[in-house]
Parts: sequence; structure tokens; C-alpha cells
Amino acid sequence: MRVLVTGGAGFIGSEYVRELLHGSLPVGAPAAVTVLDKLTYSGNLANLAPVKDDPRLRFVQADICDAAAVDEVVPDHDVIVHFAAESHVDRSIAGAAPFVTTNVLGTQTLLDAALRHGTGRFVHVSTDEVYGSIEDGSWTEEWPLAPNSPYSASKAGSDLLALAYHRTHGMDVVVTRCSNNYGHYQYPEKVIPLFVTNLLDGGTVPLYGDGGNIRDWLHVRDHCRGIALVQDKGRPGEVYNIGGGTELTNKELTGLLLEACGADWDRVTPVTDRKGHDRRYSLDITKISQELGYVPSVDLETGLARTVQWYRDNRSWWEQLKG
Ligand SMILES: NC(=O)c1ccc[n+]([C@@H]2O[C@H](COP(=O)([O-])OP(=O)(O)OC[C@H]3O[C@@H](n4cnc5c(N)ncnc54)[C@H](O)[C@@H]3O)[C@@H](O)[C@H]2O)c1
Repeated sequence: MRVLVTGGAGFIGSEYVRELLHGSLPVGAPAAVTVLDKLTYSGNLANLAPVKDDPRLRFVQADICDAAAVDEVVPDHDVIVHFAAESHVDRSIAGAAPFVTTNVLGTQTLLDAALRHGTGRFVHVSTDEVYGSIEDGSWTEEWPLAPNSPYSASKAGSDLLALAYHRTHGMDVVVTRCSNNYGHYQYPEKVIPLFVTNLLDGGTVPLYGDGGNIRDWLHVRDHCRGIALVQDKGRPGEVYNIGGGTELTNKELTGLLLEACGADWDRVTPVTDRKGHDRRYSLDITKISQELGYVPSVDLETGLARTVQWYRDNRSWWEQLKG
């Protein structure tokens, strides 16, 4: 199996590549892994350092919107696992253009190349944010898409395009929609690494609005295991939710992070709420659990403790990114 991983130098993509090459994912050992990544601000070759000497790994620096570059890389791969995206909601509020360009046009460019070259399977990594916000209960895969931020709207666009290539062209496409991830190597603009690194530096942390927004936190390792199951055994044209972490308000999460870093509430600065801030995300994971045997394995207490320890031990990784 020859696997092309877009965005493989980012947070989740690099976890996927490291684990794939280590043989710790529920999918066959790869003969070759190509990472295609533009190395935007959130892409970092240091994320691939643990596997950089693996002879099966090749790195190509390219933009998924560059049709000629993509056309050169896509042939000779059996599977594409597509992570590359602009991924930060706050940045999409400040400026939506790169989100539409990379997430929509970039995905279409990749899909076209995969179609032209007859790639075996296209795994599109999407997000639960495409469903919008839910007061009670949990979203199944049949729930209508109602994204609220430019980020989630651009992800919904790419998600629907991927499914359209299955329905129109019969391409073997599978889509995953995952909840909020946390873990090592996450760029320190996202809430958990931002709070942890600010606290480790003796600084304060900004808490949006009343802190009552609810997210389902899943360790990145469980996300990658879910993607591998879908890649291996998911049915063509199907969508699989990946979640099953722990639902917490931002205030509860902040309390856990303060405790883990030995800090008090006087280090928390309330800030004006994010525009259009989704109140609650919640995924129903019955489908992936029953069809593919997915069970999340990292509990929040253990995962958060390990994550905080990793940021303590790896200052050199994040200090230059924050600097
Ligand atoms: N982080 C989460 O909680 C979460 C949850 C569900 C789904 N997702 C999805 O998972 C994927 C990965 O998210 P992440 O958190 O690892 O993001 P990230 O920002 O850490 O990584 C994105 C990677 O894509 C690369 N990239 C960006 N634009 C590119 C382009 N035009 N061409 C080639 N490469 C490009 C970047 O250099 C980077 O390496 C995204 O598709 C995101 O929507 C993320």
C-alpha cells in the first residue's frame, strides 16, 4: 500500500504519519508514504523528525491548489488521506480567503487528480463543525450540514465535493467528521496548547464569553485510529463520525488545565466572545463503533496529563512558534 498524506506536517497529519510508519494503526503496513505539505505557519518538519530516517517516507513541499504539482505527486499511490487545510476558526473570521482557496479549491484539485489517475481510495478528513451547533442530543451522519464559521463552511464545501465525486464519478471516497482534537505537536494557537504554554510561561489565558461553550475532546491518537479504520474498512461513499471523547465546557477545561499547570483562576482573563461562536458540539458515534469496531482508548485525564507533560518537556518545539 502506497499512501499519500496531504497536510502530513501538521498536528493530526503528522501523528497519522508517525503512527502509520510505526505500525501502530489498525491498517496494513505501508510500502511507501508520501507527505505533500505546503508548510504554512502550522506545518512543521520537526513534527516528522521521529520518522525522518524511515526509507519509506518521502516529503514533497507543494500547495494542494497547484494542479501541476499535485498531478506529479498523485500517480503511484493507492490511497490519499487528505488532512491539508486551513484549520483555525479565529483566522477564518479575520480573513476567509485562504480557507476557501485551500479547503475548497485545493480539495477539488486533489479530487480531480485522484480521478484522473485512478487512485484506489480517497479519505477526506472533515470535522464535526460542519453540523453547526446543537443544544441537546448528538449528531448522526444524516444530520443536515449547517456550518457557522468561514472555516466550517469551507470544510462543509470540501466535504460535499468529496461525496459528489463519489456519486458523480463513482470514486471510492470516504469522509470522516471528527470532534475537537488535543495532544502533542498541536500548534500553540489552539486552546489547549495555547493555555498550557501561556501557563507554563507564567502568563494569563483568555477565556471567551461566559466559558459555557461545550466541546467533545478527543485525543489525536484516537482520531488517527478512527481514520485508519475508515481507510481500511469504511464503505465507499459513506460518512463516519469520530468522537467519543469527553464533553466539557470551556470553563471546565480551563479548570483542568490550571490544575495541571499548578495555576489559579487569577491567571484567567475573560475576553469578548468569538463572533458566531457555536455553543455545543456533540457527535453520535454509533455507526463507526458498530460497523468498524471503533472505541476511543485515551481517557481525558490521562491524555491531558501526558499532553501537559509533553509541552513541559518540549519547550524548544513551541517556543520558536510562539516567539
Ligand atoms: N484540530 C482539530 O481539532 C480537528 C478536528 C476535526 C477535523 N480536523 C481536520 O483535520 C485536518 C488537520 O487539522 P490539524 O489540526 O492537523 O491542522 P494543522 O493546521 O495543524 O495542519 C494543517 C496542515 O496542512 C498544511 N497545509 C495548509 N494549507 C495547505 C495547502 N494549500 N497545501 C498543502 N498543505 C497545506 C499545513 O502546512 C499543515 O501542515 C484538517 O482538515 C482539519 O479540518 C481537525
